[in-house]
Amino acid sequence: MADATPHDATPHDATPHDATGHRTAPRGTAPRATARRTTVGIVGGGPAGLLLARLLHRAGVDCVVLESRERAYVEQRQRAGILEQGTVDALRESGAADRLDREGIVHEGIELRWERRGHRIDFPELTGGRKVWVYAQTEVVRDLIALQLADGPPLLFGATVREITGADTDRPVIHYRHEGRERTLECDYVVGCDGFHGVTRAAIPEKHRVSHERVYPYSWLGILADVPPSCDELIYAHSRRGFALHSMRSATVSRLYLQVPNDTDPAEWPDERIWDELDARFAVDGEWKLRRGPITSKAVLPMRSHVTEPMRWGRVFLAGDAAHIVPPTGAKGLNLAASDVIVLARALAHLQRTGDTDLLAAYSDTCLRRVWRAEHFSWFMTTTLHTDPQQSEFQTRLQLSQLGRIASSPHAAAELAENYAGLPIG
Ligand code: FAD
Ligand code: DHB
Repeated sequence: MADATPHDATPHDATPHDATGHRTAPRGTAPRATARRTTVGIVGGGPAGLLLARLLHRAGVDCVVLESRERAYVEQRQRAGILEQGTVDALRESGAADRLDREGIVHEGIELRWERRGHRIDFPELTGGRKVWVYAQTEVVRDLIALQLADGPPLLFGATVREITGADTDRPVIHYRHEGRERTLECDYVVGCDGFHGVTRAAIPEKHRVSHERVYPYSWLGILADVPPSCDELIYAHSRRGFALHSMRSATVSRLYLQVPNDTDPAEWPDERIWDELDARFAVDGEWKLRRGPITSKAVLPMRSHVTEPMRWGRVFLAGDAAHIVPPTGAKGLNLAASDVIVLARALAHLQRTGDTDLLAAYSDTCLRRVWRAEHFSWFMTTTLHTDPQQSEFQTRLQLSQLGRIASSPHAAAELAENYAGLPIG
């Protein structure tokens, strides 16, 4: 495995480049329209790729982002909604947090609900002041794209990466198709931020990579509804009928999830059935009432845990969902993607500044420690709150006992709060 030398952190050749990394022809030579060169080639323009690009740009490290989809698609993909402090700090550092600071909603706790009672987990009290932000992934992505298109670095939509070659050489090459032509991007480093179905993972030879996986026997039906949230903080509900989660997007838009069997067709769930089932699962003694309103989106999300190790091979790095997936119950997917690229941006900036590759060499181990913690927490939240179709009464009693323990012991509650609000990065 070739480790970088100080000289490797800067572009290898003196050929001039245009704003998108295209090699522009030196005077008197024919243009080579399909060859590009950059320091860090980023595959995928989801939250991981976009945030990494901004952090590198701020640190003066040259990079290019290649995203296979078009802008509108990437901006509308409904996904996560909770940001940890570390993610918010990184968005601020990258200059992309103006709207987040205006419109993001700070939450200082969540409610756990089971057997018709609720218990609040107070994050600041249990964690020494930590809290989270409700701000949708769609908005994070929109903010990062707008800034990047205005201020750089280069971001190409409709650029589908086919393969990475030369991972263990000092010049890995990204092969991609853009505007109907096959192109290459020569890099000092390649970062795969191309999600679970991306191609970069395959650049690590199979015999050098290990994947750990668990597929859960249930999915989520996620809805968006034009109705004010029925709560001030998120509600995670355990029920013998299955799990339910009440989240929100704004003062007028609610986001709710229902546990459903795998392979559920959303068409089986007309609006009234969804509201009736949510009502049954959130049932609680006392005054609380679930507000109903027009449902504007419905989608079924499978649940999976996955980790690929190592997260680096030669000069190719994996970040975010390209390396790991968590079931969404702990709200960790987006935050883990952010923490990977925060660690990587620091390491690449450190290399460019000092010529020292130590942080880069430690990248995989540094990230995997946090990844496995988040995997455990997400598995814990998922298996404590969902009802497995094969579940015995014995297992249900264990779940109820664990929820009771969280409600009665500040230590058990603090363990949940620290993990949910986010552990320190690095
Ligand atoms: P992605 O967001 O997947 O971005 C990868 C990008 O790479 C995409 O834009 C893709 O188009 C691009 N790409 C892929 N292949 C190529 C290629 N060959 N060439 C170029 N570009 C390519 N987390 C939560 O915490 N809560 C949730 O409720 C939640 N809901 C989710 C719902 C769904 C349907 C999914 C898939 C994930 C959800 N997650 C949720 C997880 C969270 O959204 C992800 O962890 C987060 O998006 C990870 O960001 P990423 O940038 O690593 O990957
Ligand atoms: C949201 C999604 C989650 O998976 C979660 O745990 C909390 C909130 C959301 O989409 O708002």
